[in-house]
Amino acid sequence: MNELDSLVESATQLFAQSATPADLENAKAQFLGKSGRVTELMKGMAQLSVEEKKSRGAAINVAKQAIEAALTARRQALADAELQVQLKAEALDVSLPGRQRGQGGLHPVSLTLERIQGIFGSMGFDVAEGPEIETDWFNFTALNTPEDHPARSMHDTFYVEGGTATAPNLLRTHTSPMQIRHAVQHVKKHRALIDAGQAMPEIRVIAPGRTYRVDSDATHSPMFHQCEGLWVGENVSFKDLKVIFTAFCRTFFESDDLVLRFRPSFFPFTEPSAEIDIQFQTGPLAGRWLEVAGSGQVHPNVVRNMGLDPEKYIGFAFGMGPDRLTMLRYGVNDLRLFFDGDIRFLSQFQ
Ligand code: PHE
Repeated sequence: MNELDSLVESATQLFAQSATPADLENAKAQFLGKSGRVTELMKGMAQLSVEEKKSRGAAINVAKQAIEAALTARRQALADAELQVQLKAEALDVSLPGRQRGQGGLHPVSLTLERIQGIFGSMGFDVAEGPEIETDWFNFTALNTPEDHPARSMHDTFYVEGGTATAPNLLRTHTSPMQIRHAVQHVKKHRALIDAGQAMPEIRVIAPGRTYRVDSDATHSPMFHQCEGLWVGENVSFKDLKVIFTAFCRTFFESDDLVLRFRPSFFPFTEPSAEIDIQFQTGPLAGRWLEVAGSGQVHPNVVRNMGLDPEKYIGFAFGMGPDRLTMLRYGVNDLRLFFDGDIRFLSQFQ
């Protein structure tokens, strides 16, 4: 190997050993810098003849170009390596799911309430809402529930501190107070008509909302939902209640052969009263009677408390449990699941 070849080789080796661009620039200076070895060789040609300069110069140039090529290659290799490191550090896993804004959805009981409102709305029922903190009067007394009635005992009612006989003093135990509240408003609005002996537009309303009782197990929650229904007019009958409630249940459960049973019962504010049971003919619950609502003809004392003459006006009322309807519709057997707030459970209903 001649002197120039070994020069090229040692330059190439030194470049290869340079681990950083700065090292590489230092190595370059040793060969191509002002006092580098190639420059020294050029200077060394001063004493040569013109002929010798020509051939020697050409040979040095070849070596110089080889060194420059090695330098360029090493520069590129270092830059590539640096780029690789950077790419690796900033790597994006494009297969990861994006950061999504979780899509919210309605609670299963809210879905049921919307469903109830939609169905009764299509049958001409308004929707009314009322306070959850009630007075004795609306929750009990106006509903023909005397002061010594068992339903008033501390046993199942949450009383609110600081309430009085006229100021709100309890958490409503049912949505039935809305019978009185809504009817009183309706009667007030049509007082002139009523006093003139003309027909009052019928009351047809449902009142969904939260209700409270001191009760807690797999099928009872201290907070639960009810939906009241009230239909008052001059010519309403039990048959009408049966027709609309049957239509409601069949639509709600999307089951045309669903059967209803009105089972005699007792409520202070209705007489006669009936528990409404339903029975599916197909599916996992087929053949069992399932209680879904209380109902009855509005008691004359309650009609009077609405501001109407019970000799002229007759009313029918029902109160159903949307929580229970939701459990039956989706086959859920523990009511508490609805109120635990576990998103894994709740998101199944979207
Ligand atoms: N309020 C009754 C209850 O909570 C249900 C009901 C409503 C019964 C309307 C008759 C009429 O059990």
